[in-house]
Amino acid sequence: MIQRISPDQARLGMFVTSVGGSWLSHPFWRSRFKLTSQREVDRLRTSSAEFVEIDTDLGFGPVEKEATQLKSGRGRVGRIGENVERSLPRKALSFAANMNAEFRAEHARANRTVARAKSVVSEIFSAARLGKDVPVAQALALVAEINRLFDRGEHLLIEMVRMKTADEYTHLHSVAVCALMLKFARHLEMTEAEIRECGLAGLMHDVGKMHIPSALLHKPGALKDDEFELIRSHVTKGHSILKGVASLPAGAVEVAHLHHERIDGSGYPFGLSGEQIPQIARMAAICDVYDALTSNRSYKKAWLPAQAMQEMLALNNHFDGELTQKFAESIDIFNSLPQSDQDSERLAKAR
Ligand SMILES: [Fe+2]
Repeated sequence: MIQRISPDQARLGMFVTSVGGSWLSHPFWRSRFKLTSQREVDRLRTSSAEFVEIDTDLGFGPVEKEATQLKSGRGRVGRIGENVERSLPRKALSFAANMNAEFRAEHARANRTVARAKSVVSEIFSAARLGKDVPVAQALALVAEINRLFDRGEHLLIEMVRMKTADEYTHLHSVAVCALMLKFARHLEMTEAEIRECGLAGLMHDVGKMHIPSALLHKPGALKDDEFELIRSHVTKGHSILKGVASLPAGAVEVAHLHHERIDGSGYPFGLSGEQIPQIARMAAICDVYDALTSNRSYKKAWLPAQAMQEMLALNNHFDGELTQKFAESIDIFNSLPQSDQDSERLAKAR
């Protein structure tokens, strides 16, 4: 049964089906998830979310006492949409203020990193366009900065870059693939050097597009065969740009060249299949398509993360199935996949 509660009633083991308010008012970007850590519970309780809806068939309901208090109005913990702070004890109030300040600080840090990322990606792209060496040192510093946010357990940046406008797509797609590759590599428990290589490869994977007319890259509607061919040539162009760059790890060059290969051999430029495709390129293919599907483009609306992931898991001839499962785990999305036939129907109607 779906029940609406106020955020301060959240507790461990509840299954959340929606959080009311703009996503900036709370730190939760998944639409369906179980509260499995006290940190998550605390963050939800002290967020500015307007309300929380829970499914009591899939998790715990509110504690009896609080439910009764809500009903009777005596000693209420707060009605939906009402400022609940008045009824919170002083200790809880200062804790809530600290948590909100912590969330604001996390948001500010992610914002600063996104701004820096935009300018580093601009430099990489213009160097590629002008035939200069791409600035590897700046790119590595950015990768390290994003990785430091993840070290602190802060992942807001991933959702901030996913919610890009169609105009921001070219630049922020590179940042998104970089961040997703980092998260993925960390989940696979790769070494520090491999994690950095994955991030760098994600940041530079589409550098060859700087030699493709932007009107063609953003063209809505169907493309002619020769237009497709020109777009596809971005992988060989990217390889040419990066192969001679000193101090660039080999994985970044491979990813620029091979991120459109498919596991069944139907990709390009070589039609490689299975393990002929290096693992780093198989990982990049997954991150690239996931971000493309979940972003707004000039010709399509963004899909929900769970919807995109479900489609990708079904496309077992495009991607490495085992890695796709690992990727889904890395972005912690299994809890937001459809939980019932009703959900699946809703998802199907939304397409
Ligand atoms: Fe590409």
